[in-house]
Amino acid sequence: MASASRGQWSGKTGFILAAAGSAIGLGNIWRFPYTAGENGGGAFVLLYLGFVLVVGIPVVLAELAIGRQTQKNPVGAFKALVPNTLWPYIGGLGVLTGFGILSFYAVLAGWTLSYLWGAITGVYGGVMTAEASNDLFTQLIGNPGLSIGLTGAFLLLTIVVVKGGVSKGIERTTKVLMPLLLAILVLLAIRSVTLPGGMEGLVYLFQPDFSKITGSVVMSALGQALFSLSLGMGAMITYGSYFPKEENLPQAGILVAMFDTMIALLAGIIIFPALFSVGVDPSAGPGLVFVVLPSIFGSLPAGQFFAIAFYSLLAIAALTSTISLLEVVVAYFVDEKDWNRSRAAWIIGGLCFLVAIPSALSSGGAEMFSTNFMGTGMDFLSLNNIIWGNFSLSIGALMLCLFVGWKWGIPAALVSLESSGHKLAGPSLLGVAIKFICPLAVSIVLIYIIVTQQYF
Ligand code: TRP
Repeated sequence: MASASRGQWSGKTGFILAAAGSAIGLGNIWRFPYTAGENGGGAFVLLYLGFVLVVGIPVVLAELAIGRQTQKNPVGAFKALVPNTLWPYIGGLGVLTGFGILSFYAVLAGWTLSYLWGAITGVYGGVMTAEASNDLFTQLIGNPGLSIGLTGAFLLLTIVVVKGGVSKGIERTTKVLMPLLLAILVLLAIRSVTLPGGMEGLVYLFQPDFSKITGSVVMSALGQALFSLSLGMGAMITYGSYFPKEENLPQAGILVAMFDTMIALLAGIIIFPALFSVGVDPSAGPGLVFVVLPSIFGSLPAGQFFAIAFYSLLAIAALTSTISLLEVVVAYFVDEKDWNRSRAAWIIGGLCFLVAIPSALSSGGAEMFSTNFMGTGMDFLSLNNIIWGNFSLSIGALMLCLFVGWKWGIPAALVSLESSGHKLAGPSLLGVAIKFICPLAVSIVLIYIIVTQQYF
């Protein structure tokens, strides 16, 4: 009964689209290229791929298993499986992390709206030098009123969808648009690699230089793998909770992970050739994608058309991700505190807007939040990106593996994963990964970072 009143995906395809919608977003198209650029390219990419395989896929399956079994939000799920323990606090950390990520993600998502508007009005789409593009970008992000307004607008869109509920709101938005996004990315990738000097970009992206690997590079690669797959905070617990009993869950989870990784690589194949071609520094930081992309459209026939199509799809990809972030927090208040969905969406979305304001002011809008926030050497938004998007997700993923591997147990997780009768290929491999490999890998990275204090 619970499932009927909470809502459910219409089927496996509905789930794959919604979960892929959550996973695919600015993490792939904005965060992956700039983090790869800052961390030296190929070696980072290799580490990232390794973490997707070794940590990402097992954790996807672990989260989905918990979600399908309990049909609850992250806190409720732990309460249902192990009542009267401290484990539900791990779910609580996840809910908080979702809120934290949403508070800076919405700022970047707001930028995509401005780029969309610029494409429609003809600012982007024609020939543009990297300097001109950089000037426009700096103006945009440094304008306090505009940044705050765009953040609010994006959160408003998110609230409206989440308010509508799981299958109606979320599924419908994703169904048509994901394939379109893929198509336009492939097209841009072809254009980019054929730009003069583009090959150099591919070499940077795919040829590992192992001397570039440091503790913080490894940490960033782990954080990126988790962030991109929407893992470590219970988003997949929540999405798995709406998964129909009779469908093949392991297969759906693995497909989502593969699809997400492919889109990130595709984004890299677009950005790096283009940036070498127009002469932008790969380690330019968070603005990288926003500065580089406008220069590609001008070199395409019907550039304005492609610019409009691309920025609308990017905004939608961001929206299907912010939906999943807000959904986790809303599901918690709906399930655990008996709030009505619409009220929860408005209150939490509104609060998130207030918390997002310093992030919106952190790229020049207010000196205090920009550049060197409280002596950390970075701006407020970047700091949040690292705290929630790298550390909190890593701790969440670690605890999740410890929980499934050592408390709940692999056999129970397998029962949940295989409850439709579809068997998982290599169940003992999954057991070894969740019990030993993931916790060890994540702990080593975390301990190394803490001991060497490479971050701040
Ligand atoms: N994965 C999304 C992206 O790549 C962002 C995101 C949505 C997320 N939900 C999440 C990240 C949950 C971590 C946890 O853009």
